[in-house]
Amino acid sequence: MTASTATTADTFRPALHYAARNTWLNDPNGLIHHGGLYHLYYQNNPVDNVWGNMSWGHATSADLLAWTEHPVAIACDEEEDIFSGSIVFDRHNTSAFGTESQAPLVAVYTSAFKAGSTHHGVQAQSLAYSLDGGYTWTKHAGNPVLDRGSAEFRDPKVFRYDGDAGSYWVMVAVEAKDFMVVLYKSEDLKDWELLSSFGPANATGGVWECPDLFPLPVDGDPENLKWVLVVNLNPGGPNHGSAGQYFIGDFDGTTFTSSTTVTEGLQDPARLGEYQWLDWGRDYYAAVSFSDAPDNRRLMIGWMNNWQYANEIPTSPWRSPMSLVREVSLRTVDGTLRLAQHVAEDPASVSGLAPSFTLEAAAISNEMVVLDGAAGSVQRIDLTFTPGTAAEFGLVVRGDGTQGTRIGIQPAQGRIFVDRRDSGLTDFHESFASIDSAPLLAIDGSYQLSVYVDHCSVEVFAQGGLVTVTELIFPSTTSTGVALYASGGTATVGSLNLTRWS
Ligand code: FRU
Repeated sequence: MTASTATTADTFRPALHYAARNTWLNDPNGLIHHGGLYHLYYQNNPVDNVWGNMSWGHATSADLLAWTEHPVAIACDEEEDIFSGSIVFDRHNTSAFGTESQAPLVAVYTSAFKAGSTHHGVQAQSLAYSLDGGYTWTKHAGNPVLDRGSAEFRDPKVFRYDGDAGSYWVMVAVEAKDFMVVLYKSEDLKDWELLSSFGPANATGGVWECPDLFPLPVDGDPENLKWVLVVNLNPGGPNHGSAGQYFIGDFDGTTFTSSTTVTEGLQDPARLGEYQWLDWGRDYYAAVSFSDAPDNRRLMIGWMNNWQYANEIPTSPWRSPMSLVREVSLRTVDGTLRLAQHVAEDPASVSGLAPSFTLEAAAISNEMVVLDGAAGSVQRIDLTFTPGTAAEFGLVVRGDGTQGTRIGIQPAQGRIFVDRRDSGLTDFHESFASIDSAPLLAIDGSYQLSVYVDHCSVEVFAQGGLVTVTELIFPSTTSTGVALYASGGTATVGSLNLTRWS
């Protein structure tokens, strides 16, 4: 196979998001801030733009927005595919892969063993190390280091635990088909001892993949930490296909105890809407967090695609973008803990851009108002709505009169939705033309939205990021209009600020 060449103009290549130059990518892997740069590794097919030949691609960024692609970091071979995993900076050289003066980066990845291996059919955890800051990697001769004889044991996320129980490495990984997160500890990243397991719980409509576990201060109070367990699953998301759920609770160095479990064991499909979701849209999957992010920030990035149609999205020569990087925090809302998310680095301030279109306040009544001077294909739009008598109100982005992506709020139903049925190209897969919704309540009588629009995506952060909806779209280049609408009555748009890149 050779890398695909463009068959259509590359009009969907994102301006604000990472996509590989001319190959396929899926899950983010090995996220770490090291040597002054953010390193983004990812599931990559180095020679094609569909899934296969899984290896770790590599990109770096100083600002989480402009990424530089590097050569493949860890390549598959005839014995193993390199599935998802994480990287830690082994500052005290516990692994002995480095020296006292040169501490190694250690990648912990899943070996998906192939026919050429004596472990054929097994998924087990393996190590590779880098002594040059993450650019070149050497596989550990003693791989795999953790083998349960399982065909579905994968996606290790390793972090340093420093707490009441001691100081050691902790790995969270999944037994995917058992809907189970398994936790292990190690002193040297090579010998692993089982600590505990978690699950099944809440959403179990598909395999559990790509877990993460990290502490966060509650409402910014460093004396009050709670732990967040992220579990991606596929399918079984709230709007079908791939999605990420999370649990909030405590971790004592051995066991994670959830305070947000709604259903133990296999899920009750009727309760899907009660679980906590990282994102309610179709296209935010395999999200995990960066190690060693500066200032203790917890930064996450997701694969902006869905296994339902991932291999068929109409981009070329590359396929699949990453989401924007999000900073997550824990907030108490009406007595309940919730994850809040915002874009980690404001692309407008990084680009030095001021809003190019603003609106003070506008009443809309049973109409669609196209905003003159607001058109664009890469935008950030911040606005608030106060409901009047309208059953539904919202905005349309990437519109041209017939085409458009509708972001709507229905206050009586307490929901927000993204309707991409007329968003542009949709017929490449039967599941793509969709309306995807999330529960959303007014706060102090109004709704606040931050919407990031790019050449092939819309990311909606509602109510300070308590609810997010991320969707791929494939509009024509001439669909650039922005409109506000209210149907069946009135609504008021508070201040609207729009920043435009193109
Ligand atoms: C999630 C996933 C992981 C696996 C990788 C293979 O999207 O299925 O569980 O490690 O992709 O590419």
